[in-house]
Parts: sequence; C-alpha cells; structure tokens
Amino acid sequence: MSKRSVLLVDDEPMVLLALERILGTLLDCRVVKAEDGPQALAILEREPFDIVVSDMAMPGMSGATLLDIVHELYPRAMRLVLSGRSSRDQGLSTVGSAHQYFLKPGDVSAISRRLKNVLALRELLPPEGLGTVIAGVDTLPSCPEIFRELEEEINKPDASAEAIGRIVEKDVAMSAKALQLVNSSFFGLREHVSSPVRAVVLLGASLMKSLVLAVHVFSSVPKDDPLAAFVRKVWTHSLHVATAAREIALFEKAPPALVEEAYIAGLFHDIGKLAIAMNLPDARGHIEETLAERELADAVAERETLGATHAEAGGYLLALWGFSDAVVEAAVFHHQPSRSGKKAESVFPTLAAVHVANAFDHEKEPARHAPNAAPDTAFLQNAGLADKPAAWRAAIGG
Ligand SMILES: [Fe+2]
Ligand SMILES: [Fe+2]
Repeated sequence: MSKRSVLLVDDEPMVLLALERILGTLLDCRVVKAEDGPQALAILEREPFDIVVSDMAMPGMSGATLLDIVHELYPRAMRLVLSGRSSRDQGLSTVGSAHQYFLKPGDVSAISRRLKNVLALRELLPPEGLGTVIAGVDTLPSCPEIFRELEEEINKPDASAEAIGRIVEKDVAMSAKALQLVNSSFFGLREHVSSPVRAVVLLGASLMKSLVLAVHVFSSVPKDDPLAAFVRKVWTHSLHVATAAREIALFEKAPPALVEEAYIAGLFHDIGKLAIAMNLPDARGHIEETLAERELADAVAERETLGATHAEAGGYLLALWGFSDAVVEAAVFHHQPSRSGKKAESVFPTLAAVHVANAFDHEKEPARHAPNAAPDTAFLQNAGLADKPAAWRAAIGG
C-alpha cells in the first residue's frame, strides 16, 4: 500500500510547519503544504490526496469554497476544517463541504487517532465505487412523513426546539446530521452530545429553521418515489432497533450516556442502506433483484454487487462524520459482532444491544432471508452474555 497523503492548506506558515511535523509522524503519512486555495487546487490536479485539511479564513478563497470544490472534483478525499475560531455562521458554510470541523490548536493526537480509524475503515470498501461514493455523501434521505412533520413544526410561529427535537430523533438522517453538527467544534461545546433532542435544543429552533429551509441539510424523497418505500422500510426497522437497544441498555442499568448511545447506534446501524439507495440506485435495484431470486442475506447480495456491505459503508460514513467508536463499531459489526475482535466489556451494552435488537426485529422477516435473524452465538458466549437474549426479549416486550 502506498503511503497515505495529506494536503494541508493554511495561510500561516508556522501553523503549516507545526501540523506537518505532528500529522506526518502520528499518521505516518506524506504531508504536502499549500498556502491558499488556488495553490491547493493546482497540487490536487497533479496527484490525489487521502485527506485535505484546510483553514477557514484565508485571503482570496475561503476554506469552505475550497472544500466545496474538493467535494465536487475529488469526492474520495476526506475533508476537514481546522479553524482558528468557532463561529456558527462559518460552521454553517461548511455543512455540506467538510466532514469534520476542528478548532486550532486542538488536540492533534486525538485528531490523528480519529483520522487513522477513518482510513482503516475505508480499507473495507473498494476504492472506486462505494469508497468514493460514501465519502461524497453529504445528506441522506429522510422519511417523507417525518420530513413533512418537521416542516410543519418549524413553520409554526411558536416552534419549540424541544418539539423539533422529538421529530428529529425519530428519523435516521435528521438525527445523524443534527448530531454531526452539534458535535462539530464550531459550536465550541465541551460536552459530547449523543441525544438528538438535546442536539436540537442546543442548535436552537431558529438555526434548525435555516438548516432546513436555507441550507437544505435535510432532504426527503417524493412520497410516491419508489425510493420512499425503501426509506420507510429502513426507517421503521431502525426505529424498532433503536428503541429496543435503548430498552436493553436501561434493563442493564447502563448510565444515561450509554443508554443514549445504544439508541443512536441502533438508529444508525443500517445508515449504509440509505447511503447506497440514495447514491447508487442501480446497485440497489440489482441487490433487490438478487434477493427476490435467491435465498440470501442482504449483506451477501450487497457484497456480490458492491464489494462491501451496508454495514461497512455505514460505519465508514459515521466515522467520516465524527461519530464515536462505539457507534461506528455497532454499524460495522451489527450482523456478526464476533468479527469486531473486541473484549466483552468494550462492546457492552452498545454493540451487543444493537446486534440482538437487530436480530429480534429481523425475525419478523420471511425465513428465506433468515441469516439476518441469527444471533451470533459465538460472540454472546465469549462475551458471557449467552443467557441475556431471553431476558432482553422479555424486557422489550418482544
Ligand atoms: Fe443490517
Ligand atoms: Fe438492521
């Protein structure tokens, strides 16, 4: 494998020098520097980069404009902002263009660790096709009915953030975007937020209004579009898994932060299906045809068609958007948690709860796709959780 490459763009030479040294060592990558947007674009024309890190305020071309162009021309690159100050307006201008937003000087070793994880997950996907498509995703389709509910609420003169949050937390795409935004450094929050309702309360009703109406952070599909039925199916299942995973975490008396984490990990575990359906409609059609013809788990049909599954694609997307390792792992390994190679205590309750909740919900599907419904007994036994599913089933009323 050739050495990874990072393009650093900043108009302050001292910042460039410091970052070059630290990132080069920690990430074991080749670092190339550019002092402004046009220079960065000239360098990108000559060679591809795995990661582009840009300052925001630069003379001539802003970081947001540069990253927009990178998004368009080089979608496979991971796009990061490293800004000197936090500002909502500045942050909003990068909503579609940057995967993550950090503040200078920032904890560069923590940033490097995150980038390493993202690049490791990218290795699970074929470079052309899925690997490029997922890095280019900026919005995902919301369930049309939930989207309409959201529009109605934000158009009320007395729209409350709490009420908007209760709508957002029901939808996979809206929750993912709200949490990605609120945990971005441009808000300068010290706490890590994993509750979609709290995320919306922190963002505020008026900001949510501009995100929906002006920035178009959320999107829906027309109600009668064939994709709408697929989105609804993923949405219903994801909400079941999220609710059941939360109940399991509560039953296990997990602390509130882990209860929230189990909920969002459940909500996002199949997010890769939405990304594939929205961006690779032909591949989705082919996967559906394969499933109609043959007795296969959907992940097997996906691997045949795309070279990777919705689990890997979703995990990579969540990592690109800055979600925690536990949420990312729950997406990547929700079918076969034993593949995570993790010790029991580090996957409990999140991955374990999502895996079992997912298996319970898939039991309702036709038996011909039964591999989806089989709990990973090796994993449960190794984790000392073999007797848990029965108790959890009773706890969630399944
Ligand atoms: Fe799945
Ligand atoms: Fe699932």
